[in-house]
Parts: sequence; structure tokens; C-alpha cells
Amino acid sequence: MNSNLNSKRKNRYIPNKAAAEFKPTYDWSVQEAKRLYEERKYSFNIDIIHYIDCIKGMRSFPDNSIDMVIADPPFGLDFNGKESIYNRNKDNVVAGYKEIKIENYFEFTDKWIGEIPRVLKNDGGVWIFSGWTNLKDILIALEKHKLTIINHIIWKYQFGVFTRKKFVTSHYHILFAVKNKGNYFFNKIEHYPEDVWYIKRKYHTGIKKNATKLPINVVLRCIDFGSKPGDLVLDPFMGNGTTATACKGAYRHYIGFEANKQLKEIIEWNLSKITLGEYYIPYSERPDEIVSEARKKFGMETEIKK
Ligand SMILES: C[S@@+](CC[C@H](N)C(=O)[O-])C[C@H]1O[C@@H](n2cnc3c(N)ncnc32)[C@H](O)[C@@H]1O
Repeated sequence: MNSNLNSKRKNRYIPNKAAAEFKPTYDWSVQEAKRLYEERKYSFNIDIIHYIDCIKGMRSFPDNSIDMVIADPPFGLDFNGKESIYNRNKDNVVAGYKEIKIENYFEFTDKWIGEIPRVLKNDGGVWIFSGWTNLKDILIALEKHKLTIINHIIWKYQFGVFTRKKFVTSHYHILFAVKNKGNYFFNKIEHYPEDVWYIKRKYHTGIKKNATKLPINVVLRCIDFGSKPGDLVLDPFMGNGTTATACKGAYRHYIGFEANKQLKEIIEWNLSKITLGEYYIPYSERPDEIVSEARKKFGMETEIKK
């Protein structure tokens, strides 16, 4: 930086100082998070999954009742997860995955996204997972229903589907959109949170599961940035119940839908393995690498808890 400019600044720029002094916008101790979770009251049943169509189900929710939506809709790819290219034992994939025909994909997307603005609180956010093939339908539906996109996140993973004449798809899109762009909840828990996330997929060999499963760390990252302890998170497409288990582990409430009743047993099993709050660590106690490195330089070292 130009030294003239630097001398005119009120506070001289010191490299890495801001990172070393970073504090999350909001933070709660474990006791506070637990209390917020226990004290939140709702006028309808929460921490429940309904095995019905989500479009019908969302219509029964009161207005402004949901703090955050996490949605990983079906791909519209004529997919059931048992295809041989996915390099896994198809006997472990639970049948009944409800797909959407590609020709109906926009109509379906328009309908489920259309239910969100009414049920979402004014400062709430929606986090939608999408591959690139149907991304345009989701973008059009978000615009149509006046949800403003704040971030278009790329989640980079390793999928391992071998290709001969094209690049291997190894990313997913996560759209973060809000109802009110002038006033939405976002907890900046990292000093420099980038919109490309490198998170590995875990392979759960030998375990019965839905055809697709998000890694819990991707879902937890959305929850951490987009909600407060005690908040209510809606997932219209529960699959294995990843959002529900992440919520339970992070002191958030959940509600959701899954059209495939055959997943009930798996979801209940996944939920039973998680204890309430087991993933929750106050944000100031888990600095990211940039903050941690900066603190080392200033002799303010903190342990990274991951
Ligand atoms: C991509 S998967 C979700 C996977 C989930 N995120 C996980 O980590 O396990 C989509 C799910 O949506 C379900 N589904 C499809 N259409 C639905 C609808 N109209 N209402 C509720 N669930 C639906 C499918 O059966 C499938 O389990």
C-alpha cells in the first residue's frame, strides 16, 4: 500500500490484525444455546418429519413460522441411486426414491419454492442444493417468487464418476436466498468466508440409506451461518434425515417432509444416534485457519476445534 495513504489512515493497516481480532457476529455458550433451544415454543408440532408430499404439507404451516429452509430436491435425472455408475452396492440403497420427470421439473420447482415466501419469517433464508442440470429452473423460480439470491456457493467434492469424453462433475451449487434483502439473518462466524466450500463426501459402505445423502458438515455449515440456536429449520426433502440430525446436534429445531415412507426407519435410526447438542461448539472456540494463523503471529494462539 502507498505509504502516504497509510499515514493518512486513522488506524494504520497492520497485516493480519483484523483476522487475529475477528469475532463472530453472534455467539452463544453451550448453556445459552441449550436454553434458547429449550425455551422456544411453537404453536404446532416441531422436531417431526411428515411422510407426505412437501407441497401439500407446507400449505398447512402458519405464515412467518420458519426461520430457515434447507432443501436438497430430487435431481430430475431419472435417478434412483441404484445405477451401476455410482460404484456402490445397490442392495443398500432403499427403494422408493421419489424422482421428478424432467419435463415436469419446472412446474414442480415452481410449486415447492412458491410455498416458501409465506411460511418463511421476514429475516429468514433459504439454502437450496442443486446440480447444474436443473439450476436454471431453480433460479427462475426464486426470481418469480421474489426470493433474492445473496450467494451462489460452489460446494466442491470428490464424486468419482469416471467420464471418457467430458470433465468429471465434482461440484454442487448451493443458492442462499432471502425474503428481505435489507434485513436477513447471517452470522459471520469466520473472518473471510468464501463461496467455494471444499467438503468431502463420506462413503457409508454397508449401511442402508437413501439414494443420495449430503455430508453432515455441509448441512451444519449452512445451519451455523444461517440460523440461531432454538430456530426452526424446514427441510422439504429429508431423504436420510441429514438436516434433522444436524439440527438436533446443533440445538436447532427441525420440521420436514419425505415422500418415501420407506425411509422412516433409517431417519429414526440416524436421529437416535445423535445426542442433543453434540455438534455445538461456540463459534469463538472454533476459529478458521486464517484467524488461527493470524493469532499465532500475534501470540494469541487458539486451538482449532473441528
Ligand atoms: C436428494 S434427496 C434428499 C437427500 C437428503 N438431503 C439427505 O442428505 O439424505 C431428495 C428426497 O426428496 C424426496 N422427495 C421427492 N419429491 C418429494 C416431495 N414432493 N415431497 C417430499 N419429498 C420428496 C425423495 O424421495 C428423496 O428422498
